[in-house]
Amino acid sequence: MMKLRFVITAGPTREYLDPVRFLSNPSSGRMGFSIARAAARRGHEVVLVAGPVQLRTPKGVRRVDVSSAREMLGAVETALAENGGKDAASTFFIATAAVADWRPKRMAAEKLKKGEMSGVLELVRNPDILKSVKGARKIGFAAETGAKLDEAVRKCREKSTEMIVFNDVTSPGAGFGTATNRVTFVHASGKLETLPLMSKQAIGARIVRFCEGLEKCPKT
Ligand code: PMT
Repeated sequence: MMKLRFVITAGPTREYLDPVRFLSNPSSGRMGFSIARAAARRGHEVVLVAGPVQLRTPKGVRRVDVSSAREMLGAVETALAENGGKDAASTFFIATAAVADWRPKRMAAEKLKKGEMSGVLELVRNPDILKSVKGARKIGFAAETGAKLDEAVRKCREKSTEMIVFNDVTSPGAGFGTATNRVTFVHASGKLETLPLMSKQAIGARIVRFCEGLEKCPKT
C-alpha cells in the first residue's frame, strides 16, 4: 500500500471579541483526532491542525495548534504547500473542524467594559477553508440539526469534495463531544452510504480506507 499524506482539521475555532471573550462551539476534536490516529496507524503521514481542545496527540501524528479560523486556514495552506513529495492525488485534506463562519468585526485590545458594549455585535465572514484549499483531494463534514442530507449533497458540490460525511448532531450518541457518531457518507457520485452508530475511531478507520481506495483512481 502506498503511503498517503493527510492534512486534517479538528476541534472548534475561537473568534475573540476582546482578550477574554470569544465566539465558539462545543467541538471536542474527538472526530478529527480519531481520523488522524487511524491514518497514522496505517502508516500514513499525518498533519493534524487542531483548534483549542483537551486531547492528547495520537502517536505518529504531527500536530499544529491554532485558535481562529484564519490561523487554521494559514496552517492548512502551509501544511499542504510542504507536500512532502506527494502529488495532489495522494494528498488528502479532511475538514473535521467546526470552523466559525463569522468573527467579530473588531477585536478590542483590552477587556471591554459593559459601558463600551452597545448590545450589537458586528460580524464579518470567515474564509471557508474547505472550499478554498487546493492541491489535495478533499473530504468534508456536514454538521446539521436534523436529517438534512440535501445540505450535505449541496456542500459536496459547492466545496468540490470527494465525499461529505454527514452527521445529524441532534441524534442520540452523535455529534459534538461524544465517543460515538452516526454518519452517512455522501459521495461525489451521489451514492449514499449510511452507517450505524459506531465509535468515532471506527468511523475514522472507514474514512481512511475510503481514501486508500481513491488513491488508486486518477484525480479528475
Ligand atoms: O469534535 P467532536 O466533538 O468530535 O465533534 C465532531 C463534529 C460534530 C464537529 C464533526 O463530526 C463535524 O460535523 N464537523 C464539521 C462541523 C462543521 O463546521 O460543519 P459545517 O456543515 O458547518 O461545515 C461544512 C464543512 O466545511 C466542514 O467540513 C467544515 O470543516 C468546513 N468549513 C466550514 C466553515 C469554514 N469557514 N471553513 C471550513 O472549512
